[in-house]
Amino acid sequence: MPSISNKGRQMPASPIRRLVPYAEEAKRKGRIVYHLNIGQPDIYTPQVALDAVKNFTGNIIEYSHSAGNESYRKKLAAYYQKLNIPVTSDEVMITTGGSEALLFGLMSCLDAGDEIIIPEPFYANYLSFALTAGARIIPITAHIEDGFALPAIDEFEKKITSRTKAILICNPSNPTGYLYTREELETLRDIVVKHNLFLFADEVYREFVYDGKKHTSTFEIDGLEQHLVVVDSISKRYSMCGARIGALLTKNKEVYASALKFAQARLSPPTFGQIAGEAALDTPPSYFDEVVTEYQHRRDVMVGLLNQIPGVKCPNPGGAFYTVAQLPVEDAEDFCIWMLSEFVYQNQTVMMAPGSGFYATPGLGKNEVRLAYVLNKESISKAMECLAHGLKAYHQVKELAM
Ligand SMILES: Cc1ncc(COP(=O)(O)O)c(C=O)c1O
Repeated sequence: MPSISNKGRQMPASPIRRLVPYAEEAKRKGRIVYHLNIGQPDIYTPQVALDAVKNFTGNIIEYSHSAGNESYRKKLAAYYQKLNIPVTSDEVMITTGGSEALLFGLMSCLDAGDEIIIPEPFYANYLSFALTAGARIIPITAHIEDGFALPAIDEFEKKITSRTKAILICNPSNPTGYLYTREELETLRDIVVKHNLFLFADEVYREFVYDGKKHTSTFEIDGLEQHLVVVDSISKRYSMCGARIGALLTKNKEVYASALKFAQARLSPPTFGQIAGEAALDTPPSYFDEVVTEYQHRRDVMVGLLNQIPGVKCPNPGGAFYTVAQLPVEDAEDFCIWMLSEFVYQNQTVMMAPGSGFYATPGLGKNEVRLAYVLNKESISKAMECLAHGLKAYHQVKELAM
């Protein structure tokens, strides 16, 4: 039998989806599983976007321009400009999700063996995209005790080598929900400019910011223009994950031209996704007011209840819709599997994403889980009650086994 590639072997399985077979088995047994493991929101997609797809009158579903439909890029540029992100339509490339923007960006800026510094815990798929691009992730650890704030500047300086090509941040962060301050972004700017690096900023959760705070885009920080590649997506913004539309934004013409060649190789982003995405830009602001208020309530319920469980520690996230919690267990993955396969409380259980999959440093995150507050408040309350009972029962089982 021919052997598969080393790349294929090294490709990490998604820590978010890895436990799916256990959840499927629990469901086959008739149990209710609260999915706090994945960022699939239950919020309705804006009606304008659904209508645009329903009203499609074409006779052919054609390829579009490799950079995406011009009408969409123009409208998107206008949307960004309103957010103080001064890009023109030829600095915006429509991609198949933010995922493809990340991939094209990394492929365009990093060679095999080049290093990219990423604060950990980070969105696990960065590992897969970096591997595909041949790049090495150099993690810099953010700590739960500091609410996962950006590590100090000298920590970054220590990690920079002659192979360092870029820094990647996610703001607000998946998985921690941490929202970077303008001062932190300026600190990053100083490092990036001093060492002549690229800065990748994944801003796909830009709208989801709580407690009256405002998101600062890296585009608002002076001096970064030629260094910056911003990743965007409509997946979460309009609850349109399946439309598969994202965007790459850069003022660096060489990066744009290179990314466009990768885009040409995959021909074009999805046609219906672009139709829906363009129409979604007409979503009334009241939609976001409601959605952000709803997520903030969900966060308050989840984080409040988590911190009431003995031994659980959870910082209060400033944005996105995830939080990383420390559990009083040695091996969170074992606990997550046990919750799905062995435990049941009032015919319910909870699915969470084990924390170690969000770290590149071996051994970190072992007692952490990522939880997404994408369910309604009632389900979140029930899930937290279930988790509290699960932790108690797990300890009893472990003590008996000793
Ligand atoms: C931080 C982050 N970046 C990028 C993506 C990619 O999203 P998509 O490809 O659906 O736009 C996700 C999806 O969950 C994410 O959480």
